[in-house]
Amino acid sequence: MFRTNTCGELRLSDAGKQVTLAGWVQRTRKMGGMTFVDLRDRYGITQLVFNEEINADLCEKANKLGREFVIQVIGTVSERESKNKNLPTGEIEIIASELNVLNTSLTPPFTIEDNTDGGDDIRMKYRYLDLRRATVRQNIELRHRMTMEVRRYLDSKGFLEIETPMLIGSTPEGARDFVVPSRMNPGQFYALPQSPQTLKQLLMVAGMDRYFQIVKCFRDEDLRADRQPEFTQIDCEMSFVDQEDVISTFEGMAKHLFKELRGVELTEAFPRMPWSEAMRLYGSDKPDTRFGMQFVELMDVLKDTGEFSVFNDAAYIGGICAEGCASYTRKQLDQLTDFVKRSQIGAKGLVYARVQEDGSVKSSVDKFYSQEVLQNLKEAMQAKPGDLILIMSGDDAMKTRKQLCELRLEMGNRLGLRDKNKFSLLWVVDFPMFEWSEEEGRLMAMHHPFTHPKDEDIPLLDTHPEQVRADAYDMVCNGVEVGGGSIRIFDPELQDKMFQILGFTKEKAQEQFGFLMNAFKYGAPPHGGLAYGLDRWVSLFAGLDTIRDCIAFPKNNSGRDVMLDAPSCIDQKQLDELNLQIAKIEE
Ligand code: AMO
Repeated sequence: MFRTNTCGELRLSDAGKQVTLAGWVQRTRKMGGMTFVDLRDRYGITQLVFNEEINADLCEKANKLGREFVIQVIGTVSERESKNKNLPTGEIEIIASELNVLNTSLTPPFTIEDNTDGGDDIRMKYRYLDLRRATVRQNIELRHRMTMEVRRYLDSKGFLEIETPMLIGSTPEGARDFVVPSRMNPGQFYALPQSPQTLKQLLMVAGMDRYFQIVKCFRDEDLRADRQPEFTQIDCEMSFVDQEDVISTFEGMAKHLFKELRGVELTEAFPRMPWSEAMRLYGSDKPDTRFGMQFVELMDVLKDTGEFSVFNDAAYIGGICAEGCASYTRKQLDQLTDFVKRSQIGAKGLVYARVQEDGSVKSSVDKFYSQEVLQNLKEAMQAKPGDLILIMSGDDAMKTRKQLCELRLEMGNRLGLRDKNKFSLLWVVDFPMFEWSEEEGRLMAMHHPFTHPKDEDIPLLDTHPEQVRADAYDMVCNGVEVGGGSIRIFDPELQDKMFQILGFTKEKAQEQFGFLMNAFKYGAPPHGGLAYGLDRWVSLFAGLDTIRDCIAFPKNNSGRDVMLDAPSCIDQKQLDELNLQIAKIEE
């Protein structure tokens, strides 16, 4: 037997037992005639002791152990003299009687401890070493537990886990596809699925009734902390359901996960917020509702009520009230102005107004406004003495709201209002069906082209498509979109109409989505579903800043796997077989 126990399980009650352990050498310490070795495996760390007086040869062997050597040790469990309260095994140590070096190791490029000295890049390159660190490993363990709970919950609700293909056809809507050349069909390409959307709908036509899959999805889009080019969805679809059925099933799953994995009982129904309200109050379709600081529109108060041309020309003026921040120094306010002017946010400036202890208002635009107007501002913002009002304006209302949203989140961070151990969940509902794309010069589906419009808005499809709302819903937790879905169109005529509004000719729609539209002619049931982002759920539960840390082998922000050095060039023979030629690449 390689080992009788793991490095995480022995306790004081095991004292006197002879055991065999195996694992990696985390560190060795020589103190007088004693050598102490911290032995690590997936389960924990156990201290080994080698005593020169008892066995000099063995102790010399232990002194030669390097970091990350793989060893096997036989010894006796013994009570420690100086106990380590921070370690579950901290009350015992193993008095070693035999030591086998199973493998040596090069010196690792960074310390494999919770507070490592390794930077991001080096840890990504040696990810297999980074994964030995408890903090990273725990995220992977949490991810495993989550997928087990997801399967348990969905199985109990009658869902079938069904795999769908990874090599599928390219679809033009949504993000960019990753494509794969076909050797057997020269000049043709598969695409990796951005999601199994159409396939799960076909499974409903096939009568599978309740489907789920924990599935890799691929999207060639710009990366952020909560986006990876390949990520995992908990993808689900149900037949004979309306929006309420889908929402209650998946709200149930969220509650199940919170209970099993975080020990949090969520008893209340999650609030619902129409998309228009989310945009009005938070400037975001994924509002962080852990804190207030809602937007107040100030067009009535500040447009044309003074000489400030920036506001007088604005299409939107909005403010937030930061409680107790009137004492912000000039430097702090300049920092906030610099923050909103950063290229990622792109605002032109920031106006502030301090409510003084005597109730008067002092602002950065005092010379343009009377105190009366500033008092109206205070009232509109419901600001109290000691509060700071921050105001942004612009000629594009949606853009300005998004900029103000960034400022609100920044203030939330500065004021410590975004506590990672507090969870605020909601459903954002009633999304617009379409959004205008400047790039494409046409309406695009906000969710996807198979989403059902709200029944009462169907008459608007012909006259005011931009006003049509969809039976679409997103689940948002702490400002992160953790999932989204919709009720689908199952009537081929309505689907035809959608494609028409999206600017597809009949031929183009048939060419790209014919497989789905034809299937719908064979008795498609009413259906709908949702997909949760697994990586986002895990990182939320683990309190991580980026989903990268809960993925075993993630890509960096340039979409590279620095460990595998991928993507990489392929040799000419492979290119020839695939009938591909590389155009000259500019440096
Ligand atoms: P959607 O595009 O909203 O919907 O994706 C569903 C959920 O997947 C997660 N997600 C991501 N996670 C990490 N990296 C990414 N690049 C990324 N993109 C999305 C999010 C998101 O809420 N087929 C539909 C679902 C449906 O209608 O049933 C879909 O894919 O948490």
